[in-house]
Amino acid sequence: MFQPNLLASQTILITGGGTGLGRAMAERCASLGAAIGVAGRRLEPLQETVAAITAAGGRAAFAQCDVRDPAAVAAAVDAIERELGPVTALVNNAAGNFLAPTEDLSPAAFGAVVQIVLGGTFHCTTELGRRWIARESGGNVLNILTTYAWTGSAFVVPSAAAKAGVLAMMKSLAVEWATYGIRLNGIAPGPFPTEGAFGRLMPPQMLEDAKKQIPLGRFGRPEELADLAAFLLSPMAAFMTGECVVFDGGEVLKAGQEFSRMTDQPRAQLKAMMAAMKPKKS
Ligand code: HXC
Ligand code: NAP
Repeated sequence: MFQPNLLASQTILITGGGTGLGRAMAERCASLGAAIGVAGRRLEPLQETVAAITAAGGRAAFAQCDVRDPAAVAAAVDAIERELGPVTALVNNAAGNFLAPTEDLSPAAFGAVVQIVLGGTFHCTTELGRRWIARESGGNVLNILTTYAWTGSAFVVPSAAAKAGVLAMMKSLAVEWATYGIRLNGIAPGPFPTEGAFGRLMPPQMLEDAKKQIPLGRFGRPEELADLAAFLLSPMAAFMTGECVVFDGGEVLKAGQEFSRMTDQPRAQLKAMMAAMKPKKS
């Protein structure tokens, strides 16, 4: 539905762009005309993403880096800009996460996740923000959050704390950097079956129950999230900043609604029950 040149003249750096949602966004944005830089720790997924994009006729480059290291982030941006020209947009997608009882977490375990999610987002955002301010070019940041950035969540405390921090940072900078023409927005996905997320967070025996919690009755598809990302990164969203779009098939609303569990019953049965409760006219 998008014009094929929607993102032409953009160069988008996607952290964690070698796998999962990052790769889906990379391929979709490339198909809409953007040059794509992908960054992450492992070489192979980065090479595969770049190969897929170039095979489809797009432009792409990769840089190996750990987003926890600000010097490595700066070197990665330098490398991508040497190959593709000035980066015009950043997608903070790299993340670390795992299920663990909080009382069993070591300081290193807490630090690993917080440093990837919150530290990495800070390093990437400030590295590019400084460049955009110096160039007077404006810029565009998209943060991939989670729906529990607002509510918190049991058993993923480091991730919940870090994502909430990213949300606060995004809203703060949306105001602070608006004067430089820099927009910052977010997407809060519900469950999307990627290897990285489901391998760590979705025990197979809980899959069906997890699906039932989603009013639309299924998990998200990475291509759907990639389309939303393309919209937010495009000039179509030029007036939007500091906002985070929940993209979860209604999961969060259902979890918070008093009578939402009733929708789990067959509708005819539910209607009959409600009819039986209706006072009879005398
Ligand atoms: C408890 C754990 C642990 C676990 C690691 N640690 N895994 N503790 N339970 N499952 C501890 C280690 O013992 C160590 O502490 C510390 O964490 C650092 O571990 P390392 O393996 O050295 O860290 P590192 O190699 O940097 O790996 C980071 C990582 C790993 C976060 C631990 O999982 C990773 O690389 N993840 C990247 C991809 C990812 O997580 N994708 C999922 C994103 S999905 P000690 O004290 O022993 O030294 C998402 C949202 C999902 O975020 C929402 C779903 C709806
Ligand atoms: P994923 O495939 O595991 O993606 C995480 C990516 O981050 C990987 O490519 C990983 O590559 C990279 N990464 C991790 N640590 C890094 C580091 N220190 N430096 C640089 N890169 C690093 O999982 P995903 O599901 O696509 O997740 C993508 C984003 O969506 C994350 O922000 C996640 O929190 C969010 N999200 C996902 C879901 C879901 O259900 N899938 C739901 C809500 C939110 P390397 O390991 O090679 O570095």
